[in-house]
Amino acid sequence: MTDLSDLVRPGRYPLSSRYDPTWLLDLDRGPNPLWLLEDLAGTLELRPGTRIPYLGSGKGATSVFLAREFGAEVVAADWWIASEDATADFVEAAIAWHAAGWWRFLWEVTELVEVTSARLGADAWEDWLLWARAGAARGPEGARANEPVIEMLTADAGEFLSFALITARKH
Ligand SMILES: C[S@@+](CC[C@H](N)C(=O)[O-])C[C@H]1O[C@@H](n2cnc3c(N)ncnc32)[C@H](O)[C@@H]1O
Repeated sequence: MTDLSDLVRPGRYPLSSRYDPTWLLDLDRGPNPLWLLEDLAGTLELRPGTRIPYLGSGKGATSVFLAREFGAEVVAADWWIASEDATADFVEAAIAWHAAGWWRFLWEVTELVEVTSARLGADAWEDWLLWARAGAARGPEGARANEPVIEMLTADAGEFLSFALITARKH
């Protein structure tokens, strides 16, 4: 069984490890968002005052992270999550059903951006599995939501499922 403390991994994710895993799981709108964002942030030029219009911000954990860790000014919006349901102290990864090269092509073909990096997260499926196990260990609702994910990830064993981390600069 995965313990919540398994989600604190300062060796691999030093910034994310400063956040309470319970707080993060309560804001869950997808697996391990801070780990993905911390990985992605290495390829972004984030400085104090960087303005981020964040579409699909979920319940706000990643917005808080961007603001606190980098001093970014985040304007967050989500289609399904009302602002009052997002975390009160409001001040970007996607599931890779396609390979990173496919996403690079899709973005570049718009001729609106220059893709500055496109890659799959290293061992991303194992991070996702760890996250899903922690979610499943939280109680019956968590188990119901996460057991199919655990089964899916275990069967795939990293062959197809991963996260594509793509960054681009507007022309
Ligand atoms: C996988 S969740 C990730 C949430 C958040 N980025 C995180 O990492 O915790 C994707 C979110 O995008 C939102 N979303 C999907 N389509 C959207 C749209 N067209 N405009 C705004 N939000 C959208 C969904 O409601 C959902 O909360």
